[in-house]
Amino acid sequence: MRNDRSKGRPQPDRRERSSTPPGKAPAGKARHGAPASEPPPARRESVEEIARENRRDRPPVEWPQGARPAFSTPVILEVEPGTDYALVDSGDGEKLERYGPLVIRRPENQAIWPRRLAPGRWDGADAIFTGDTDEEGTGRWRFPAEPLGETWPMREDGLAYLGRFTSFRHVGVFPEQTVHWRFMTETIERERARSGRPVRVLNLFGYTGLASLLAARAGAEVTHVDASKRAIGWARENAELAGLSDRPVRWICEDAVRYAEREARRGSSYDIILLDPPKFGRGPKGEVWQLFEDLPHLLVLMRRLLSDRPLALVLTAYSIRSSFYSLSALMGEAMRGLGGRVESGELVIREEGKDARHLSTSLFSRWVSA
Ligand SMILES: C[S@@+](CC[C@H](N)C(=O)[O-])C[C@H]1O[C@@H](n2cnc3c(N)ncnc32)[C@H](O)[C@@H]1O
Repeated sequence: MRNDRSKGRPQPDRRERSSTPPGKAPAGKARHGAPASEPPPARRESVEEIARENRRDRPPVEWPQGARPAFSTPVILEVEPGTDYALVDSGDGEKLERYGPLVIRRPENQAIWPRRLAPGRWDGADAIFTGDTDEEGTGRWRFPAEPLGETWPMREDGLAYLGRFTSFRHVGVFPEQTVHWRFMTETIERERARSGRPVRVLNLFGYTGLASLLAARAGAEVTHVDASKRAIGWARENAELAGLSDRPVRWICEDAVRYAEREARRGSSYDIILLDPPKFGRGPKGEVWQLFEDLPHLLVLMRRLLSDRPLALVLTAYSIRSSFYSLSALMGEAMRGLGGRVESGELVIREEGKDARHLSTSLFSRWVSA
């Protein structure tokens, strides 16, 4: 087993996992930070109907031919406590985290073990999320000591951005992603030093834009796609805050599959692709995204969008119904004939302090050229 660590990196929060499942809340009422995982407008049947309609004209997936890449499993990518983010403690269905200046307490379904720290440490959090303990549930924030504003300043690897209290418990960043971001920026910098060519990055389901901004700062040309206007607005706000508004980032508010289909028809290509899809999501025109149904189609489109000198395709999934072996098998099929290697496993966060446990956050599979 390889243990690929993210040493003391500043990190952000966890993801808009699956988006809100069908029928949970009225559509079209996106709160700041409630990404395009907007709940569907009506009953489940209508979501299924929309999904069927979306896929009606889609040709069968054309799986690539050739040998499969090499495989490495399991690869555990670990986030360690850092200055900008630390998992302080976890247990009894909650987690206690430090995000820059703030200590935040939120529900965490994976934390089925007991806590290490005294109740006073937990009760002393600056912000506590109360509400539906269901992963997709909404709720509200309580500020025991003093009322806090909606946003606060954060940093990731020296890049300034805004943390934000959202009604879906998320704060605008998923700390476990920092291991992918470090891998991506190192890959961009290495390639630029080696060949001097421009590196093109596609970030689908880009959320608040941190990956896009880090890629741009490393010198890449970036296309950032998200279905939520609010998420795009937040990402642009982050670009301004980071002093990167003049970098070549295209901010696109679109359904990920629709955009990818159009890019494939146009013959566009990218050297690095990041894919961070929710389990369920909605496009701006009501398109339906369902991970299990749509991922094979999207991944094969991504394969077509890879340039003739591709560097990486990184996929993260937050669905507990899946397994990294499933993602690995799918990635292997999509990357047939391209050589390289497929690495798959979990993204975990290590608690700070003694006797630390690991909090599992998500599965990933990434194809790398060398
Ligand atoms: C899990 S978040 C991505 C987190 C981000 N990559 C990061 O690490 O910070 C999922 C994002 O997908 C977006 N989304 C949901 N459905 C979508 C769709 N059909 N097309 C494009 N984006 C979608 C949501 O608006 C949300 O911003």
